[in-house]
Amino acid sequence: MIAPILEIRGLSRRFGGVVALDGLDLAVRPGTVTALIGPNGAGKSTAFQCISGVIRPDSGQVRLDGRDITGWRPDRITGAGLVRSFQIARGIPRLTVLENLLLYGPAQPGEGVAAAILRPAAMRAREEALRERAKAVAARLNLTRVLDNQAAALSGGQKKLMEIGRALMAEPRLLLLDEPVAGVNPSLSAEIASHIASLRDEGMTVLIVEHHMDFIASLCDPVIVMAEGRRLTEGSFAEVAADPRVQEAYMGGRVHA
Ligand SMILES: Nc1ncnc2c1ncn2[C@@H]1O[C@H](COP(=O)(O)OP(=O)(O)OP(=O)(O)O)[C@@H](O)[C@H]1O
Ligand SMILES: [Mg+2]
Repeated sequence: MIAPILEIRGLSRRFGGVVALDGLDLAVRPGTVTALIGPNGAGKSTAFQCISGVIRPDSGQVRLDGRDITGWRPDRITGAGLVRSFQIARGIPRLTVLENLLLYGPAQPGEGVAAAILRPAAMRAREEALRERAKAVAARLNLTRVLDNQAAALSGGQKKLMEIGRALMAEPRLLLLDEPVAGVNPSLSAEIASHIASLRDEGMTVLIVEHHMDFIASLCDPVIVMAEGRRLTEGSFAEVAADPRVQEAYMGGRVHA
């Protein structure tokens, strides 16, 4: 058994009287595109927030490559190789796509005003390297032709691609995507799936929350099902889709075909 890249043990989190996570256990194997599904309110986004350090769990552990990262700040977690995108795309609307990507380059030691004054040549070289990286990220996501457009002018699907691009700028080993194709038309959704498959083929691990079952069926293995803050089951898409407990958990919930 290959050691998991991400391991969650007994993760719990309340919001007032609402129990969002109730002892969640899960593991993600390296080199997979793993899905995390479940009905509305199951706790998927809360799990992502705890994993990425945006909020603290009340109890439980998050382990990245066997290392306990529970309670770390988001920037430290990013530096350790774990990056997430948000359910709502967060790019800065008035900046161009290129500028949005440049904001998320990996942090370098010695960055800042002092370095700019003392080591201008090194700063210029770093800026140039960052621009090249942003252009390469845009090229692989088919965003080259809109690089100089304002983010506000992008289609919904292109905004989703830019959001993935921002995450890629940080050079993650583990990428968490929250609803990467929500509101995206089927052809762009298929394009996003093929981009994610290429990232996996290059060695990246991806964990995806999504409600679109066609997208999950075509891309993700395994599929982890959450309900009421816990892991209900895990398997191939066909296995979990045939599981009566999964069907029951979704009754009354929102499931997009
Ligand atoms: N900041 C918050 N304050 C209060 N309650 C919250 C907060 N965030 C989440 N919750 C509640 O926690 C529960 C889990 O929410 P969460 O957003 O994690 O679900 P989800 O599985 O991502 O759902 P969806 O599929 O609709 O995105 C829900 O009952 C939700 O209302
Ligand atoms: Mg959510």
